[in-house]
Order: sequence, then C-alpha cells, then structure tokens
Amino acid sequence: MTRRYLLQALLLFGAGLPATMALAADKPFKIGFILPMTGQSASTGRQEEAAVKLFLAQNGSTVSGRKIEVIFKDDAGVAEQTRRTAQELVVNEKVDVLAGFGLTPLALAAAPIATQSKTPMVVTAAATSMITEQSPYVVRTSFTLPQVSASIAEWAAKNRIRKVATLVADYAPGVDAEKFFKNQFQLNGGQIVANLRTPLKSPDFAPFLQRVRDSGPDALFVFLPSGQGATFMKQFAERGLDKAGIRLIATGDVTDDDQLNEMGDVALGVITSHHYSAAHPSPANRKFVDAFQAQSKFRPNFMAVAAYDGMRVITKALEATKGQGGGDALLAAMKGQIFESPRGPVLIDAQTRDIVQDVYIRKVARVEALGGQLYNQEFDVQKQVKDPGKSK
Ligand code: PHB
Repeated sequence: MTRRYLLQALLLFGAGLPATMALAADKPFKIGFILPMTGQSASTGRQEEAAVKLFLAQNGSTVSGRKIEVIFKDDAGVAEQTRRTAQELVVNEKVDVLAGFGLTPLALAAAPIATQSKTPMVVTAAATSMITEQSPYVVRTSFTLPQVSASIAEWAAKNRIRKVATLVADYAPGVDAEKFFKNQFQLNGGQIVANLRTPLKSPDFAPFLQRVRDSGPDALFVFLPSGQGATFMKQFAERGLDKAGIRLIATGDVTDDDQLNEMGDVALGVITSHHYSAAHPSPANRKFVDAFQAQSKFRPNFMAVAAYDGMRVITKALEATKGQGGGDALLAAMKGQIFESPRGPVLIDAQTRDIVQDVYIRKVARVEALGGQLYNQEFDVQKQVKDPGKSK
C-alpha cells in the first residue's frame, strides 16, 4: 500500500505539478472586506457589499480553479475596530487580500498590518492622497480628493465666480480638498473669503452656513464624506443661501448618487467634479447600473463602482498568478492594470499604486430619459488625471 502511494506521489511530482500548486488549488482564495455597515457611514458598506455580490454573480466565484470567498466585516467606522478586524482576518482567517476601508482613519489603522503581513490592501473608498504612501501593499480603486478638487476650482474661475468660501469636513480628506481647491482657484485669479471646517461626527451645519453668508462669496465650495450630502443640502436651503444668490459647487461626494434623488429641487443646478456618475453615458455603465438596480433596488454610487473595480483588480491578479496567489505576486499583478470601468477608462499606476482616471464636471438635473429622477449629468471631462497630491 505505502509503496503504491509513494509511486503515485512521485508520478504526480514527476508530471511537473509543484506541491504548492496542488495545495493552493484546494484552498479557497479569501478576500476580507472591512466596511462600515453600521453607524454614520453605513451607506458605504451597503453600496460596496451590493457591488461585490453583483461582481461575483456576473463573473462566477471560481478563478483559475480557486473558489473566491469574500468575508464581510463591519467596523462601524471605528478605527480601532478596523485594526483589530484586519489583524484577525490576517492571522486567523489567513485572508489573501484585505479590501474596503470606508474612511481615511480606518485605512490608516490597517496599513501597518498589510505591511507586516505582506498582504495586498485594496482601498475601495478612503480618498486622502497619502493613504497609498502608508504601505507598499496599498492599491487604490476609489479616487483622491486632490484629483477631483482642482477641476472644479478651474471650472469656477472660468465661469465668473470670483469669491469663494470653502466648507469641508474637518479631517484629512477635507484638508486635501480645501488645499487643492484653494491653490487652483487662486492660481486662476480667484479669491478665497473663508475656510470653514465642520466636525466629522454628526455635524450641525447651521452656524457654519451663517458664517458663509457673512463672508459674502459668489459661491460656496463643499467637500463632505459620502452620507452627509442630504443633511447639508437641506440646511443650505433652510438657511436661504440659495435664495441669497450663493452658488453651490462641490466634489461629487456631496451630490452622492446614493442620496441625490431625495434631495429635491435645492440640488438642481449644483455643479460638481467627480470620477463617477450613475448617469455616465457609456454602454458599460448602463449595463452596470441596470444589473445593480435589478439586484439591489437602489442606485449605485461612486463607492459601489470602486468596490466593483476592486474585485476586478483582485481577481485579474489572481488569474495572472494562475491561481497561486501570494502577497507579492498579487501586488505585482495589480500594478499597471488597465481596463474600462463603468466610470470610464482607468489605470492602476504601477509607481504610485493609485488610480488614474477621467474627472468629469457635472450638473444636477432632472433627466427625463432616466425616469425624471435627479442625476449628475456630465458636461465636461479632464482625461486621465493622476493624483496631484503625490508630488506635494
Ligand atoms: C475618506 O474618509 O477618505 C472619505 C470618505 C468618504 C468620501 C470621501 C473620502 O466620500
């Protein structure tokens, strides 16, 4: 008996099948998605989970013979919980890839664990420029605030807006947005009349909006993280800033597709810059949006598209390693990927591991062709924008 098994084993190896490959094929390929599923940023978790499920439903859950297993974990938007969860996923679950990270502080908490364990960490939400520099294992499929904030500043300066007040959430991505908006706007001859920062947690915008009014700007520029746009828009209208003739310009986080349709007429005409609109007029996007809505009964936003693309980047990397995986091999295969996303053409820059993408200027309108609902309609584009935050 023993001799026969020995012979079989020798034949197997003699046929050129490395032991590691035989072992890897038996194990599922594990992706640990850490997201805020509860708390203030729960919409990010809901959007991303739906997108991951859609990707698997469309592409199947086997890649190069490996069964893909996605483990979703809720960190409630609390950094200490993200860190602990990342640790558990790496040590106990032995995940091949970490993914998600709904807010910048959550991504920062996990980055050292990615480095220590040599686990690729695919950031599908958080958008402060410096996140990719916190670990050589970080790859990003979302966007950066510098990437989208400069375009709207340029648009404003070219459209007779001379004086702007800025209002941003008071944490790293807000600081990025404020800085890159301000620099570009001043470079184009504009004047900044106030820089306001609102608390990240449960902000009351009323006192800030009063200060905006007092500073007498032509327009107010806003960045708030996904989930806060509707509350802000309501207070903007209640305080009568629109009636006072103050135009609203923002990054697309504010006119988030997740909430836009509930904002009502106050949102009409708001101009934003961003990398994704559910109304992006490409066949690939129509297919994505239709399938997403058929599955989930809500509209995908920029978080959903980043998670969907994150799954693409991860599974193509697994394919490139012929199902073998391994932290460094996966990372190498993620770098330089080029593909058509629902948002448009994208590239994972091999040097920075950050996403290069088109940035659109959009206007909120009621779109008859899309059921008379509110959408961000793209009317201008800046092609293949790299994160301008990296060289600073
Ligand atoms: C972030 O915390 O990096 C973040 C979160 C939500 C956004 C943008 C940036 O919409």
